[in-house]
Amino acid sequence: MGKGDKPVNSTGNPVETDVLIVGAGPSGAATSALLATYGIDNIMINKYGGTAPTPRAHITNQRTMEVLRDLGLERRALEFATPQRQMAEHVYANTLVSEELGRLLTWYNHPKWKAEHDLASPCSVCDIPQTEMEPLLVHEAANRGAKVLLNTEYLSQEQDETGVTVTLRDHIKGQDFSVRCRYLVAADGGKSQIVKDIDLPLVGRGGLGGSIGVYFKGDLSRYVEHRQGDMYWLVQPGVGMGGYSIGVLRMVKPWDYWVATSGFDIKAGPPDLTDDLARDIAYRLIGDRDVEIEILEISTWTVNDICATESIRGRIVAMGDAVHRHPPMNGLGSNTCIQDAYNLAWKLAMILRGQAGRGLLQSYEDERVPVGEYIVKRANKSMAVVPNLLQSLGLGGAADVAGLEDCLASLKAPTQEAAKKRAKVRDAIDTSIVGFNTLGAELNQRYDSTAIVADGTPDPGYTEDPDFHYEASTRPGCHLPHVWLLQGRKKVSSFDLCGKGSFTLLTGLSGQAWGPAAEEVSNRLGIPIAVHIIGPGKTYDDIYGDFARMREVEEDGVLLVRPDLFIGWRAQTASQIDELLEVMGQILDRPGVATQASTDRLSRSGSLRFAT
Ligand code: FDA
Repeated sequence: MGKGDKPVNSTGNPVETDVLIVGAGPSGAATSALLATYGIDNIMINKYGGTAPTPRAHITNQRTMEVLRDLGLERRALEFATPQRQMAEHVYANTLVSEELGRLLTWYNHPKWKAEHDLASPCSVCDIPQTEMEPLLVHEAANRGAKVLLNTEYLSQEQDETGVTVTLRDHIKGQDFSVRCRYLVAADGGKSQIVKDIDLPLVGRGGLGGSIGVYFKGDLSRYVEHRQGDMYWLVQPGVGMGGYSIGVLRMVKPWDYWVATSGFDIKAGPPDLTDDLARDIAYRLIGDRDVEIEILEISTWTVNDICATESIRGRIVAMGDAVHRHPPMNGLGSNTCIQDAYNLAWKLAMILRGQAGRGLLQSYEDERVPVGEYIVKRANKSMAVVPNLLQSLGLGGAADVAGLEDCLASLKAPTQEAAKKRAKVRDAIDTSIVGFNTLGAELNQRYDSTAIVADGTPDPGYTEDPDFHYEASTRPGCHLPHVWLLQGRKKVSSFDLCGKGSFTLLTGLSGQAWGPAAEEVSNRLGIPIAVHIIGPGKTYDDIYGDFARMREVEEDGVLLVRPDLFIGWRAQTASQIDELLEVMGQILDRPGVATQASTDRLSRSGSLRFAT
């Protein structure tokens, strides 16, 4: 805490914390859980009395599952996840009961994509509704020591050299109180008040289309069990996601919890969200009014194309939807929020523990703003593909019902003209894969910042379309590639050796000298650095030879893996302690640490060099 005047709450006690997180959605909850796991005192607030009432986010990609794995939560999450194989079939039709126009195998279920997906990570894409993910993270944050305050609203903030004083409103007591924190995290979502208050620059446009989501309970198994998927795309004139005439029935829990998505005219504003409207939307998409349904919730969302070009103001850091706002295509929202948290939390922890300089925080902005910009563009480009199906059918956005019926009937004609139309429809279905199968968009993030130390090798770029294909590399700035290793009888991922808030060195059998080097550097910096020598006779063996193939350095070279599993630096062969110190000094914003060390060493005349 700073030494300024201590704010007091209504009982006269000072309220202080290292990090105050505003928002308990995926961004805030993941940050709080990670910080608590790293032993950092934090308070997370939410203006509402509970977690998300509607299951907005659901596609949970491999990188997010890897964060949960690092937190020790992967197994628990999988208990309520719908597995990849049950997300496979995207069906295109008029209603759930009508004849199909076609299908698409999505979420890497097509054998052509499955291998690439499986090779990329120890984790699998799955479907976890936001109504399950948020409670898991919030519970775990609290369980690990975070203080979680519900019914508590952020009102304003004032920052100075040593911290931020934040005014909050306790909606239960009806009283305002202050919290003094060293850092304030704005995880307050797409309508972020904090982003407005600190005047972060936002580019792009919002409110481009309007959607209504109807969360309902109803057993639809007889219509979907033989074609299991997470989304059923239903061409319905006048009804549609984002204002297009295509509605979506989205599985929340197989096969009796659903969200029916329809559109509204954004210029006219959201309609009255009545139970009748909700039933009408659900029944129009199902196409069978005899199915018993119970409406659980009706809400709206809009299509945005907005991102912030900066995310930090002094001691205030913004993340998640507060800084990147886009439609749900590709399912990149909550995933990117949780990955923002993974990038931010270790940096804040090390700064707060005095292990890193404040400059390390800037690397959060430098690394994550480009990711935000990219995913906003990607999701909007994918959204723009949605109307292709209508166009292929010769229907406009506001096509009338009669037009649709004629059009669907005409597709069956044994004529040249109908054949052309059928080909167009197939093509439109095929091209919509861009919204559901972009492994590269999920995994190819590459960073460039002061927390990445270049090794002088040229940027390899990509050999294939980087939106679709993941290309692993150990070049600094890339994510550590996943390979399976053997620990005793157990198969573990290269990811399992790293993370947990620490830096890690990975080397081969002849890289033994990295052990004492890491110890020396770790002692000098006061920061733990794990070292794993991988090979026969060691704790981890490269039983498939994949580590040797993946590492792109000699056997005595090394990969320096940051706590968020990104490669911070690598050495082609055995190096010198000075170099490792200098690298760590740069990453942690501790300039001069290497110079100081070599002066010390000269005066001790001992040789710590281990270059071979
Ligand atoms: P979010 O909005 O979730 O949370 C903000 C938090 O801040 C809330 O707890 C709120 O109460 C709190 N808050 C706001 N103002 C406050 C104040 N003044 N004081 C205190 N608290 C305050 N993503 C994905 O990855 N995969 C997917 O499949 C989908 N699918 C999807 C479908 C649909 C229909 C939608 C609308 C969205 C998705 N998403 C998604 C996106 C995902 O839902 C979204 O990206 C995340 O919820 C954003 O998380 P945040 O935590 O950043 O904000």
